[in-house]
Amino acid sequence: MITSKLPSVGTTIFTTMSQLAMDTGAINLSQGFPDFDAPEFLLAGVGRHVLAGQNQYAPMTGLPALREQVAMKVQSLYGRTVSAQDEVTITPGATQAIFCAIQATVRPGDEVIIFDPCYDSYEPSVQLAGGTAVHLPLQLPDFAIDWQRLADALSPRTRLVILNSPHNPSGALLSRVDLDRLAALLRDREDVLVLSDEVYEHLVFDGREHFSVLRHDELYARAFVVSSFGKTYHVTGWKTGYLIAPPMLTAEMRKVHQYVSFTAVTPLQWALADYMTAHPEHVSELPGFYQAKRDLFCERLAQSRFRFTPAAGTYFQLADYSEIRPDLDDVAMAQWLTREHGVACIPISVFYQVPPSDVRLVRFCFAKREETLMLATEKLRDV
Ligand SMILES: Cc1ncc(COP(=O)(O)O)c(C=O)c1O
Repeated sequence: MITSKLPSVGTTIFTTMSQLAMDTGAINLSQGFPDFDAPEFLLAGVGRHVLAGQNQYAPMTGLPALREQVAMKVQSLYGRTVSAQDEVTITPGATQAIFCAIQATVRPGDEVIIFDPCYDSYEPSVQLAGGTAVHLPLQLPDFAIDWQRLADALSPRTRLVILNSPHNPSGALLSRVDLDRLAALLRDREDVLVLSDEVYEHLVFDGREHFSVLRHDELYARAFVVSSFGKTYHVTGWKTGYLIAPPMLTAEMRKVHQYVSFTAVTPLQWALADYMTAHPEHVSELPGFYQAKRDLFCERLAQSRFRFTPAAGTYFQLADYSEIRPDLDDVAMAQWLTREHGVACIPISVFYQVPPSDVRLVRFCFAKREETLMLATEKLRDV
């Protein structure tokens, strides 16, 4: 018999909703993954490297060729020169990078500030490190940081602040002003680090810019910045990502990474390195590619009784259903929509420690083929 270290963790809503979508034959706009394939050159690269014998452990820090590609991208997009050797680490997914950064820095009794709604891996990672997650709600309707609340929440025990921009589930973006405000708040707190989850860094729309922490000298000096090849190259199942941090932070994170997984999958790293070398334009084409999907989804959803503001980033669209079933909470709404109307979504309350009681929002993923989006919106218009 054991006493659980994570007593409140059960099956995630993402598993539950995807299963319900399968059982009912509903169109699955719940979990965040594309229903289309990655570029063939990238996919074929895996087979090529497997057959060429790239099947043994890659270096602990990641393939040099892939780390170089990441460093080059960061230079060209964010104007920061990072050392591929000392500041870039390839990881088996962004989630693993987040976990390792937290284990490397959070001690029992430390507090970690998390903005709700948030990606669900942060809290268990903090708990396993013995820390306490301090949840601060983002302010509706824009999902903006309440700076006064953050200032009040900073305590002598605060160790880490976790940011996520572009933001899952809202699609909101942090601005340069936001980063400046955070830097100002932390200026006299050298002991507080920042973990910036930027897995949707290339999914920003309507000509907006992604203000990476990598563009901010003062914040980067105390930051871990995490991204995901899975999101960027339409291969979420490859679970391959990376973490960038100044050398001292990288060294500490790698001490954990080398015992959690040691390294990431070798042929996948080779295929990604080849593809990034051959197709550097992929990332600059991504905003247009996903904006077309967002626009198609939103134009057709506008003919339904759902209410929404088009997402500024990510591949998620929030929608307010209060004109349709105000009597249902969002979990019941997601189940009703899946069962009765054949479209699966995610209730937003699962991204909160304490969900706001009056919110009637669900999240749809629009990383889907045009046919899927057409079919789904046809059903949503009838709701
Ligand atoms: C905000 C956020 N961070 C991290 C991840 C995980 O990325 P990966 O699949 O590379 O672990 C996700 C995936 O849904 C996410 O939404």
